[in-house]
Amino acid sequence: MSAYLPLAVPLYGPDFAADPGSVYARLRAFGPVAPVEVSPGVCGHLVTDRDAALGVLNNTDVWSKDPRGWESGLPEDSPVRPMMGWRPNALFNDGAEHRRYRSVITDSFARIESHDLRRQVGEIADGLIQDFASTGEVDLVGQYARPLPLMLFNAMFGMPPEDGPRLVSALGGMFDSTPETATKANADFGQYMTELIGLKAERRGDDLTSWFMDHPAGLGPEELIHQVVLTMAAGQEPTTNLISNSLSRMLSNPDYYSSLSNGAFTARDAVTDVLRHEPPMANYSAHFPRRNVQIGSTWIPADSLVLISYHAANTAPDSEQAGERTDGGAHLAWSAGPHACPVKQPALLITITAIERLTSHLGDLELAVPRSQLQWRPGPFHRALASLPARFGPITPQKTGVTPWSSSPSSSTPPAETSTESPLSSANAGPQPGSYSPAT
Ligand code: HEM
Repeated sequence: MSAYLPLAVPLYGPDFAADPGSVYARLRAFGPVAPVEVSPGVCGHLVTDRDAALGVLNNTDVWSKDPRGWESGLPEDSPVRPMMGWRPNALFNDGAEHRRYRSVITDSFARIESHDLRRQVGEIADGLIQDFASTGEVDLVGQYARPLPLMLFNAMFGMPPEDGPRLVSALGGMFDSTPETATKANADFGQYMTELIGLKAERRGDDLTSWFMDHPAGLGPEELIHQVVLTMAAGQEPTTNLISNSLSRMLSNPDYYSSLSNGAFTARDAVTDVLRHEPPMANYSAHFPRRNVQIGSTWIPADSLVLISYHAANTAPDSEQAGERTDGGAHLAWSAGPHACPVKQPALLITITAIERLTSHLGDLELAVPRSQLQWRPGPFHRALASLPARFGPITPQKTGVTPWSSSPSSSTPPAETSTESPLSSANAGPQPGSYSPAT
């Protein structure tokens, strides 16, 4: 059921995307929870207070992740269905069912060695950088942060490298596209999944799909597809945003800019800053109360939609003071409770490796427009840049995939300090791209 709430504040559209902070300030005036509209006609409540959020995320007796009671009132073609409609996967189930699905994902990721993951990310990053390195300009969202996690998932799930671009255009095409492109992207993704499952059913490999298939949880064919799709879909958007939001901060702040080569403020500092002040998923963790329940002075009807605002909870005026601590303060960017992100450490490794790889090759990278003029993609759930235009002194791989790189002869810009280093030699010298100790 999607009750209409007369005072509901819209979380879609350009105003929210341009200045979410002022919308959260308005929402906080309602108390710990406020009425919101996530899409025209689809209303619910948004928790903006950190303690109230933890109360929802941890109390499974009262709160369910199963949307079926609520979504029966949602139009079939509602744009929020892809993010909120029930499926047999970890995200939309409770209790033993949830633990079973989740164990497939956590146990399989636990088999991945950090150094292998770092190497894979490095190779994919280098391939993407080589595609634009000689041009001197790049959209770091469209040409780097968005394709990188998908190319990586293509490899991690065991598809040959040449299928990576198919996954990028299929899953990537589902964002920001016209209905026609979205329909085509959906069909292409279906085809990709059929081929992936077929390939691994025939011959297992050292990859996530094979480990999901052979996991003792014994997933059925439909359940298998849903855990693969969930992992790819849940990983794609926030990782893209974590990379690009962090890069946008690093490239617009002289403390980071001047430190790209000398390391006073690190990529990890930027990532920690983003997790706290601009979390890649801004509002999500859809929950549904099993009975009528009160938060603050607001009564929330059973089976109605309640979302958690990680962004508002992290940036509440009182928690901002706690955030002055050197660890950046506690934050909810990964959510909390039984459904908190199960892939936090690998996601950090991927993000930091991707950023360090880029900045080590393109040491003079700078934003092409001031950060204040960057466009943010509308939508209630994410904090996502539409694009991140940047420029740098061009470098040219002498032969694709082979070292060394040199500054482009056509370039009038002096080569960056690191630009003559080869991807391999730079990976082997000094602080390694992706070398970090796990953050919390
Ligand atoms: C390799 C990249 C990633 C993968 C594969 C991944 C996977 C997942 C999965 C499978 C879940 C559902 C867990 C469950 O319901 O038990 C989840 C939840 C979540 N993830 Fe991640 N994730 C990734 C990166 C990130 C990043 C970068 C962020 C943001 C900092 C993030 C934030 C979250 C949040 C907030 C939830 C809770 C969503 C909810 O309960 O509605 N994830 N993730």
